[in-house]
Amino acid sequence: PRVAVIVVAAGSGTRLDAGVPKAFVGLDDHTILRHCLRGIFEAPPMQVIVVAPSGREGDALTDADEAAGERRDLVTVVAGGSTRQASVAAGLSALWGDIEYVLVHDAARALTPPDVFDRVIGALEAGAAGVVPVMPVVDTIRQMDGETIVGVVDRSRLSAAQTPQGFPRGILEAAYAAAGEEFTDDAAVVAASGHAITTVPGDATAFKITTRADLERARALVSPLPH
Ligand code: C5P
Repeated sequence: PRVAVIVVAAGSGTRLDAGVPKAFVGLDDHTILRHCLRGIFEAPPMQVIVVAPSGREGDALTDADEAAGERRDLVTVVAGGSTRQASVAAGLSALWGDIEYVLVHDAARALTPPDVFDRVIGALEAGAAGVVPVMPVVDTIRQMDGETIVGVVDRSRLSAAQTPQGFPRGILEAAYAAAGEEFTDDAAVVAASGHAITTVPGDATAFKITTRADLERARALVSPLPH
């Protein structure tokens, strides 16, 4: 394949407080990571690099093998770092030589539908230097000074960034090599190198499982409907 996806799954899940790293929390009898990978294997074939918490590479490989089925030769598992950015950098080091486009995806966005991957890849093939799936912001956003509201931000000019975010391989590698500070997503790393970032529509089900409430929502979405 010409496309690789780096699935960052090395976070501790402190805000979820589940006792295990977030990627290994169960939604039903399958973990967050396994659900995430199942969706990826419904998208067009890609090299799949799973960035696991250090010491949990074996568990990640088990989930990946089960999700991949006959495509397990596409999977590589590497150990992550102490920040998301370090984990992405670890993933980049495992890219196969012929990969042209790289998607970076949060394992915590476990229910992302395959058509989001299709849209990101389509924009890359059309020549984009960076692609971010976005959702409109529905809340009214306030600017704060401590506990005090000092302003309202015009939400029609805002959007919420999701993953997978896609980049031509060379642009992403060069941006990571140049990145001095910590950024919260990959598009910010690439934008800091002076590239324009384009957007495609995201999906409500690509939300990031961060809090207990997010976990309950994800569990409800994967459970069979009562009848
Ligand atoms: O913490 P947060 O949920 O925002 O992290 C987003 C994604 O980055 C998660 O899928 C998490 O596993 C991953 N991550 C990582 N390595 C870290 C921190 C976060 O792979 N050191």
